[in-house]
Amino acid sequence: MSDPTFWELARGRRSVRRYAARAVPSELVDKLLEAAHWAPSAHNRQPWRFVILNDASRRRRLAEAMAAHWQSDLLADGADAQQVSQRAARSIQRIVDAPLAILPCLDLDSLDVYPDPQRQQREWQMGVQSVALACQNLLLAAHHCGLAACWMCAPIFSPALVQAILDLPAAYDPQALLTIGYPPDDAPRDKARAPLATRVIAR
Ligand SMILES: Cc1cc2nc3c(=O)[nH]c(=O)nc-3n(C[C@H](O)[C@H](O)[C@H](O)COP(=O)(O)O)c2cc1C
Repeated sequence: MSDPTFWELARGRRSVRRYAARAVPSELVDKLLEAAHWAPSAHNRQPWRFVILNDASRRRRLAEAMAAHWQSDLLADGADAQQVSQRAARSIQRIVDAPLAILPCLDLDSLDVYPDPQRQQREWQMGVQSVALACQNLLLAAHHCGLAACWMCAPIFSPALVQAILDLPAAYDPQALLTIGYPPDDAPRDKARAPLATRVIAR
């Protein structure tokens, strides 16, 4: 516990879903990506690829298409149509309104190739883990820089659609969508966690 700023950083980061109407300077975007790029990765392969969603109309198209996909899944599950449509609209708005949106992908071409599906699955899993670690570096760096962010899972539910709309290389496996911006005055500061002891066992 020698560096209290680290503990404050780890404890104080929150998922923030609305942002102040203020652009994120490009130097800060570079810093976030640099922090992400220093994450550990399996074989030090650095399999992360970050797609910066700068084109507003394309970003909207992506948000709408992912929401439509989500909507049809929820309706097929039997969810209430009005609620589903409200949730989809909120999701679109969150993505469209974010000052910055970054789509992290796993580059499948950077994975080792195995003759059996079991080991190939594990190799893919290590790639996903590596990208997630890079994203956590990015989220912590954002918090450190006075920004706020949120991980959205939508892209993993419709990867083909994301690939097509963003015209991504075939090997880019979308992992998430990170929305980032300056926090509003009423940004959430706390979030509950279960007692740590319920998440730890010893053998
Ligand atoms: C893999 C993953 C997927 C997530 N997907 C979403 C999402 O689709 N939408 C959302 O609002 N938050 C999403 N979150 C954020 C979580 O809801 C959030 O981390 C959790 O509630 C704890 O809150 P905190 O980040 O403020 O501590 C996701 C987080 C992770 C790690």
